[in-house]
Amino acid sequence: MNNIKNINQKDVIIALDFPGKADVLNFLDCFPADERLFVKIGMELFYAEGPEIINLIRRRGHSIFLDLKLHDIPNTVKKTMAVLSGLDVDMVNLHASGGSAMMRAALDGFTRPDGTRALIIAVTQLTSTDGDMLKNELLIEKNMTETVLKYAENAARSGLDGVVCSPLEAMDIKKALGDKFLTVTPGIRFASDDTKDDQKRIMTPKRAAVSGCDYIVVGRPVTQAAEPLKAYRQCRMDFMGY
Ligand code: C5P
Repeated sequence: MNNIKNINQKDVIIALDFPGKADVLNFLDCFPADERLFVKIGMELFYAEGPEIINLIRRRGHSIFLDLKLHDIPNTVKKTMAVLSGLDVDMVNLHASGGSAMMRAALDGFTRPDGTRALIIAVTQLTSTDGDMLKNELLIEKNMTETVLKYAENAARSGLDGVVCSPLEAMDIKKALGDKFLTVTPGIRFASDDTKDDQKRIMTPKRAAVSGCDYIVVGRPVTQAAEPLKAYRQCRMDFMGY
């Protein structure tokens, strides 16, 4: 059994989609100093600031999902995951469309010599992809649910801990792959939000709570809110009940 870091079973993950450190610190300063958050560092922030941004956020006591969505040949992903295993994060990810061999190699590379590792999950289909795009651009003949389920099954068989999917697919994944297989779901919007932005497959935090989502990933509805703390608290209340 791998020694996996202890984080809450259910949580709201805030996507820190900011161009650099100054904006991140400004945003984090909206929260009480002793509030422990679960945040997501994506490509924009990581490529701008490098690994030091992880240490900075960690020093404030927050949990971190490093969302770099790796997708390359198995050997390259394995070696890159070995590098990421040296960073102090709680969760990393890759694209399930890279295939099972790539996912197994990733897991291998990410597991430290002493057997410890953080969580590793696979992106199924982006929440900005809809059925039309799946069929007409990606030329995938199966429907969205079938495609996402198959990718999730591949991830589970490869030994991964869960998937990134839309909240619309979370329940089917839980039913097929069991409660322990994690569902991490972006595409969250409040009922009052008048824009979906670029997201297509969306749900409110309240509905996500009863839809088999373990973690919801929320970006703009919190980061761009007039009062980010209030928006975050509302999100937690809706999703977690406290
Ligand atoms: O601002 P918004 O709530 O749409 O942000 C969602 C976040 O989740 C973004 O950082 C995006 O990169 C990420 N994400 C996603 N869909 C996926 C995987 C990650 O929206 N399938």
